[in-house]
Amino acid sequence: MKRLLLPITGILFALPSIAQSVNPDHQKAVNLVRQMTLDEKIGQMTQVTLGVVSKPQDGELDPAALSRVVTGHYIGSILNVTNHALTVDQWRTVIRQIQDEAKKTRLRIPVIYGLDGIHGQTYTLDATLFPQNIGMAATRDKELAVAVTKVAARELRASGVRWNFAPVLDCGRQPLWSRFPETYGEDVYIGKTMGAAVIKAYEEDGLRNPTAVASCMKHYLGYSASRTGKDRTPIYMPDIELREYYLPQFQAAVKAGASTIMINSGEINGTPVHASKYLLTDVLRKELGFQGIAVSDWEDIIRLHTRHNVAATPRAAVVMAVNAGVDMSMVPNDLSFYDLLKEAVQKGEVPLSRIDEAVARILELKYKLGLFDQPYPEDAAVQNFGRPEYQTLALQAAREAMTLLQNQDGILPLARNTHVLVAGPGAQSISALNGCWSYTWQGKDERWYPKDSKTILQALQDKLGASNVRTTSVPGWDSRDNYDTMALKAAAAGADVILLCLGENAYAESPGNIGDLAMPEDQMALARAAAATGKPVILVLTEGRPRLITSIAPLMKGILMAYWSGRRTAEAISDVLLGDYNPDGILPFSYPRSMGEMVLYDRKPTEEVREIFNENLTMDGYKPLFPFGFGLSYTNWEYSDLQLSSARLKGGAALTVSVTVKNTGSRDGSHTVELYTHQHYASITPSMRRLRAFTKIFLKAGESQTVKFVLRKEDLAFVNARLKTVTEPGDFDVMVGDKKAVFSYVNTNQ
Ligand code: BGC
Repeated sequence: MKRLLLPITGILFALPSIAQSVNPDHQKAVNLVRQMTLDEKIGQMTQVTLGVVSKPQDGELDPAALSRVVTGHYIGSILNVTNHALTVDQWRTVIRQIQDEAKKTRLRIPVIYGLDGIHGQTYTLDATLFPQNIGMAATRDKELAVAVTKVAARELRASGVRWNFAPVLDCGRQPLWSRFPETYGEDVYIGKTMGAAVIKAYEEDGLRNPTAVASCMKHYLGYSASRTGKDRTPIYMPDIELREYYLPQFQAAVKAGASTIMINSGEINGTPVHASKYLLTDVLRKELGFQGIAVSDWEDIIRLHTRHNVAATPRAAVVMAVNAGVDMSMVPNDLSFYDLLKEAVQKGEVPLSRIDEAVARILELKYKLGLFDQPYPEDAAVQNFGRPEYQTLALQAAREAMTLLQNQDGILPLARNTHVLVAGPGAQSISALNGCWSYTWQGKDERWYPKDSKTILQALQDKLGASNVRTTSVPGWDSRDNYDTMALKAAAAGADVILLCLGENAYAESPGNIGDLAMPEDQMALARAAAATGKPVILVLTEGRPRLITSIAPLMKGILMAYWSGRRTAEAISDVLLGDYNPDGILPFSYPRSMGEMVLYDRKPTEEVREIFNENLTMDGYKPLFPFGFGLSYTNWEYSDLQLSSARLKGGAALTVSVTVKNTGSRDGSHTVELYTHQHYASITPSMRRLRAFTKIFLKAGESQTVKFVLRKEDLAFVNARLKTVTEPGDFDVMVGDKKAVFSYVNTNQ
């Protein structure tokens, strides 16, 4: 693994590849790099976890360890928590102490602190948690996504933290994957547009401003597509698929101005992404034009040696990753990276130009964030923590995520005098409403949740009065009492309706690995027992990924998909059940019918039309339990008058598609209008549908509105066999609601 490289001294002042963009912060960074020793540079590229500089007590730094790490090794970045979220004040003290230590170094370079504020600021006590990305995708509300992101940014910054490891831009096309809830679902367009909007929201105020943080698009690239769905396991994927479904989100995020990127811990076609110069330099830098920091994921450089077995020694692993294009190593438990990289540079295995390039990127971000001028948590930022209006927003976001999947005989909304029996492991759980990255990494430890967090049982009792709501459930997802079918049957006698709360308790990353999407049998047994009472059963699902419910679904009168929707999930559920909110969430994924039928909505023609025998064909290749984009309302929506501005879209021109949408029911409501296209014939088998645009409208009962979309040739493009993104001439269906029209795309350059 040795490479022939220039001697260190010969290129000390060259900094060739960092001279691209001219901005004052870049220039300052380059100038500072020129003054730095090798030790100081390598320190900047090293990131350690808080535990390395902490005492065993949470939130207390160990001054000796801090000095060894920061003053002794010039460490550039610290991340994470030791066990659980800290208070705002604890964070501010921790950050202040770290920056005080950094001031003792020769060049007084501040430390950049990074945290995972995945659905709100995960790691500050009492911070406002919002729906996970999968729930935000169900809202199809970009403005809402922007608003919740701004709150996350403010609460991070109030805690003294200026770098957020979010958003996750991995495409959720493998529902077994334990990080599915962190994705925007199976569609490229939703991931691309929501992701870009969120990145802008984090950064657009200007990184010096105490309302902004640096974002981190992650995990580049293809992380979500592991073959078995197990976290951090191999991906096998041709470039054409990678570019069609997984790259566009990152491309859009780079354009939106993302400051940093985190690398996929997995391997693609046998090459770990941390070792892929092709992906990290050729595609990311040269093709996408990304100029920010590429940070490794947790321990992933050393894992090139210990886990992937592509590097024969720990030093070879460091050489591989840094030469491939990783700028900062999330080591994170020791200083091994620092020592190994120093050795590698001294031996000429990593060119100093590569080090200088990486360090300049890191310093440039520190300048942009204003850390050199003011490294301490800003006083002005504190007032932005925990504002009352955030709670209103959290409720709004959770409400908009709620996706009503079944409502037989109009069982919902419930009348206010209904007697409800609430059952199931989710009825008295807080963690199962919030999921991963909720005050702890796994989100399971309810001791750290805000005291005013409500369970579904409490929220319903608030609405209907305690005497009308009884339960067989107990706190504690795993308590055996929650699965007692006999108790459920016995308690059902006095109830009008059974509300059954099933799904998944919180999990994050590998601890969430499962071997089967099936809903666990003890929960299925509860559903069957509830149905056997003869009482109408309403199923509420709080889950991070779609667990299979095919055999029990017909037994349920109502099914509400609530995802993990954050601090106000319980209130949002009860609002929908009682009709205080008219549901408008729609699925951002295809809810599968069975493990063998994981066909996605943007299926190919041969998935749609199945060959049974010779000429016998069926048209039901895509038959999920609930399709992508599905979600019921308490009112009715009708589409009419689909019009195109022209029957031909020529070259770079625009085509306007308009449609009239009417609320024909008796309740006001919001509704997402989605536009799909399908090319009839193309050189690469065309998808049966691709989502190209969406918008959310609010209409009072009886009102109608004309909705307009603009289509351009880029919206119809796909990746061809030569890996080029092209739009081929031909006929297209455009589909909005149940309406369809046809137009032709004509390439005027031909
Ligand atoms: C996760 C990342 C996260 C990092 C730091 C890793 O295990 O894969 O998404 O940002 O830890 O907490």
